Amino acid sequence: MDKISIYEVGTRDGFQSVKEYIPYEVKMEIIDKIVDAGIKHLQITSFVSPKAIPQMKDAQEIAAACRSQYPDLDLLALVPNLRGALTADTFGIDRISFVVSLSESHNKANINRSHEDSKRELDSIRNALPEMDICLDVATAFGCPFEGKKTTSELLEFIGYYVDHGIQMINLCDTIGIANPVQVREVIREIQKTFAGLDLMVHIHDTRNMGMVNTLAAIECGVNKVQSTLGGLGGCPFAPGASGNLATEDLLYMLDEIGCVTGVNLKKLTEASALQCQKIPSGSYSGHLLKVFERQDICYE
Ligand code: COA
Ligand code: ZN
Repeated sequence: MDKISIYEVGTRDGFQSVKEYIPYEVKMEIIDKIVDAGIKHLQITSFVSPKAIPQMKDAQEIAAACRSQYPDLDLLALVPNLRGALTADTFGIDRISFVVSLSESHNKANINRSHEDSKRELDSIRNALPEMDICLDVATAFGCPFEGKKTTSELLEFIGYYVDHGIQMINLCDTIGIANPVQVREVIREIQKTFAGLDLMVHIHDTRNMGMVNTLAAIECGVNKVQSTLGGLGGCPFAPGASGNLATEDLLYMLDEIGCVTGVNLKKLTEASALQCQKIPSGSYSGHLLKVFERQDICYE
């Protein structure tokens, strides 16, 4: 069956939702467990203004430690601007998620930039760091808390600019968990038809308990890269009402059950999630497997 790459983004999208600073040692302990479970792609942090996201004030230390401890791991960091990209590069990160929102009002709320500003920012990153691998994270791709849903043609036009400017990988983010499987299929099929060969990934929030069906809809359309967060921890601080992503261990359970190959161990990953819950008790978790984990009634083999 299909090989699916799981991109764990909880160490960025999950941690950023926690108000109290999570000590560096705790972050590293959780990352260690995630890597030990077999995760190969990890969005470890974001290089953003510490005023916007105080939790990420240790981004440089985390990036440097991960780069030296896990030289073979595919490490990503989210960046909103040239400064973030330059810092990522300095600390050994060669793959960035450059975030822009389909809706201009969310782009403003999230990164204080107009769409034109973001285009210029990307140009400056590409000029300064021509070797940097850039994934375009399209926030509010399926709907915005301020502007609602855009049409598929508006999304295609938005993406088209970036594809014309050399972007080869797009991550479609359902920032407020408002998508439905019919919409996901339509959007993905239209993108595939319009931009043949474009690498697609999805990042689906579970606000309305639709994370699993929407992620599965994307996979059934041929998307083989999916993002999720350990325990379902998370939410965008700049999107009112946003909650966590689909929980990675729940996603993995489903993928194992339908015969997809991920290379990740479910038991170890669920243990990592349980550890995270214990170490970060103030976090908000939407994961289901966590609830039955203690009862040991799941066959992990
Ligand atoms: N890393 C660290 N600090 C940064 C930075 C970066 N990438 N970019 C800007 N800063 C600092 C500036 O030095 C400045 O600090 P100062 O006030 O001490 O001088 C401050 O942040 C504001 O900088 P400015 O360029 O005026 O940015 P802004 O106020 O317009 O904010 C962003 C723009 C993009 C920096 C900010 O909105 C941001 O970091 N957003 C991140 C949002 C996010 O992570 N959302 C969740 C993920 S989707
Ligand atoms: Zn998110």
